[in-house]
This record gives sequence, C-alpha cells and structure tokens, in this order.
Amino acid sequence: MMNIDYIHGYSTEEQQRLIQQAEYWKDDLILRNINYNSGESFLEIGCGAGGVLGIMGTAFPGLKLSGIDLEAKQINYATQYLKQLGLAAELKIGDASTLPWSDNSFNHVYMIWFLEHLCNPLGIVQEAFRVLKPGGTITIAETDYRTIVISPESEDYRYLQQGLCELLIQSGGNPYIGQSLGNFLTQSGFKKVNNKALAFHYFSRKAPKKVASFIDYASYWLTPTLPQIVENAKKDLESLQAGLNDFNSIKNNPNGAITAVIYRGTGIK
Ligand SMILES: C[S@@+](CC[C@H](N)C(=O)[O-])C[C@H]1O[C@@H](n2cnc3c(N)ncnc32)[C@H](O)[C@@H]1O
Repeated sequence: MMNIDYIHGYSTEEQQRLIQQAEYWKDDLILRNINYNSGESFLEIGCGAGGVLGIMGTAFPGLKLSGIDLEAKQINYATQYLKQLGLAAELKIGDASTLPWSDNSFNHVYMIWFLEHLCNPLGIVQEAFRVLKPGGTITIAETDYRTIVISPESEDYRYLQQGLCELLIQSGGNPYIGQSLGNFLTQSGFKKVNNKALAFHYFSRKAPKKVASFIDYASYWLTPTLPQIVENAKKDLESLQAGLNDFNSIKNNPNGAITAVIYRGTGIK
C-alpha cells in the first residue's frame, strides 16, 4: 500500500544520499551481528537505491541478493549501482504489502529506514514472515525521531523535531515506529524476537569528528524537509531555520554532544 507522499523524494541527489547513508551506518548498524552464509538468499524490502544490498553482497560473497521497491527510479538506480559493484541481484518494482514471491522463499529478510514511511507496517512484517523459509531470519532497523537530541539544548531544535514528526505522520508514516518493532514481530508469528534500542552518543571533547559526521549526515536529510514542514505541518520557517542552525552549530561547539536511538528488531520464523 502506497503512503500519501514519500517525504525524501526520488531525485538522483536523494539516491546518492541513500548510498552515503548506508555507508555511514555500515559497521555500527547494518552489518552489526549479521552473519549470512554463501548460497543463502537475502531479500531487502524497500531497497531504495541499493546501498544496503551493495553492503550485504560485498560483505557476504555468494549471498543471493533480491530487492524490491515501489518506485521504478529506485530500482533503475539500484540496478546500475549493483552492476558497478560487480554484484548480481534480482530486483523488482512492487509493493511490500503484496510481495511477488511465493511462501518460504528466503533465508533472510531485511528492512531499514522503511517502515517509518508506511501506513500498514504490521501487514508488511506479516508479508515478510510469509516469504521467509522456516528458520529464516528477519532484521528491521528504524529510529524514533524524538530520541535525536542535542546538547546544548535548543528550543528551536525541539520545534524542528516536532515539525518533522508531524510531517512524517501527515505523510502516512510513523516517526516513533522503532519502539513497535518487537510487538509487530511477535504479532506476525516470529520466534526469539528481540528489539534492541541502540543508543549512539558522541561528544566533542572526545570525538569531535564523530559529532561532526553525525551532524553532517543528519543535516543532509533534515534540511530539504524544512519547506515540507512549513507547508504540511504549518510551522514557522524562521524558527525551523533557527533550529537547524542550532543543530548544525553542535559540531563547532567544544561542549557539544548528540545522541540518537535506533531500534533493531530481530526474529526467526
Ligand atoms: C528511505 S528509503 C530506504 C531505502 C533503503 N532501505 C536504504 O536504506 O537505503 C525508503 C524506500 O521505501 C520505498 N517504498 C515506500 N513505500 C513502499 C512500498 N509500499 N513498497 C515498497 N517500497 C516502498 C520508497 O520508494 C523508498 O525507496
């Protein structure tokens, strides 16, 4: 089922951003505790530009890659991108709520930065269950946008954060979905379900480069949402801009710090 408006869009710049985002989270999140075997099959649902598929295919040679995305532009980009990496993949344009694969098809299913945009996340986790083989694994990573907090505290940044959450809700998504992953997985029939809240915290006196790279990474996707927050969540542009400036200024502040919680739900069919 398609949501009303996908907030990040499908420009080439956005596709490149998705590739960079996957690289940014590669070791700390995407490959964390993952160990797939050669010959096993892997499906990424909502694969976008192919960044995560590229990481998996490179880290686990012999993994049979599949991906699906609703948008043809993403699949076209992913096809070229994976080809450049020398990776073979079965990529399909299609809707996650009616996956074009038969029951018990895959050893592993993965979703990341995806369910937050959708209005029927439980139905999609149930579809993932259907296409997994018995004993197959699922991994889902999503954040909770309330948890991306900065120090020094900024009222304007809080305003921006609230606006972003409202925008995601209005576009049919859920900015707090990370907390629901464990319940969705259990409701869908998965066993050995876990949902770990992974906290990422960086402070300037110890790791100024980590602070700066997190701010740059987040600012890159946050900045283009400002006009949409004004239009759809009826917020004031000047205050949003002030919030963004406070957010960006953390990287030049010797007493700056940033924290974000990302949830990682796992289970076995
Ligand atoms: C933020 S991107 C994430 C892409 C990828 N997981 C990554 O980390 O780079 C979300 C993707 O979900 C896709 N999408 C949205 N609704 C979908 C649906 N119902 N079925 C399949 N894909 C969908 C969008 O086209 C977009 O490419």
